[in-house]
Amino acid sequence: MDMKFRIRRFNPEAEEGKRKPYWQEFTLTGVEETDRILELLHRIKWEQDGTLTLRRACAHGICGSDAMRINGVNKLACKVLAKDVGEKVQIEPILGLPVLKDLVVDMEPFFAHYKSVLPYFINNSPEPERERLQTQHDRELYDDTTKCILCACCTTSCPSYWANGEYVGPAAIVQAHRFIFDTRDEGAQERLDVLADPNGVWRCRTIYNCTPACPRGIQVTRAIGEVKLAIVRGSPEGVITEGAGEIAVSNS
Ligand code: SF4
Ligand code: F3S
Ligand code: FES
Repeated sequence: MDMKFRIRRFNPEAEEGKRKPYWQEFTLTGVEETDRILELLHRIKWEQDGTLTLRRACAHGICGSDAMRINGVNKLACKVLAKDVGEKVQIEPILGLPVLKDLVVDMEPFFAHYKSVLPYFINNSPEPERERLQTQHDRELYDDTTKCILCACCTTSCPSYWANGEYVGPAAIVQAHRFIFDTRDEGAQERLDVLADPNGVWRCRTIYNCTPACPRGIQVTRAIGEVKLAIVRGSPEGVITEGAGEIAVSNS
């Protein structure tokens, strides 16, 4: 089939007066329904316009580097097939971060928020002879949030983040959740203090754009809710309880 692409372009090196975003259209012929959008963007770049700029690496939904707005929804270009979007597709950079060129945004503000939540294991107790053991139940408390690949699809789909870039954003909260609910970790209180800040979890208004945007299927809004509850209670202990075959948030 033939497929039409409408792509948001921006060239920071264009001459003064022409340095503003614009739309450009491309047509590809011989597209297979199972071609991925990433491959098709490569075809445009390699066959029609070598200046088209995009970020990508693994092409298999693992590295998280090719997040973009595809027909108005944040997706990884390597995980969307031609048949998912039809014969016309509009592609833009993700929102809320400065555009460097075409589909490439500056990820520094995103990673600054990520670093602010201490996204690493903290335990200053003497090391045991072997690894720090954990029960299967305790490992399950944060299993969902270990799947994050830091693609930024959630944070850049959040209207609260668009309105205020100081908001730490759902991705950083998901990363904090992964360690806050790890029973072997000793840095939960420090992270909860960071997230209790006015630009922490309370900027989340439960708009819920972030959860369907996550290419890893993480229950982002739920993780944020669990962190909120831990802040209110002053501790992550007992916030998540196991229900019938699943982990449930305790309201007691
Ligand atoms: Fe991407 Fe999901 Fe992680 Fe957000 S939570 S950064 S959408 S993988
Ligand atoms: Fe934003 Fe998700 Fe909260 S879209 S407001 S972080 S539920
Ligand atoms: Fe790595 Fe798409 S290129 S996730």
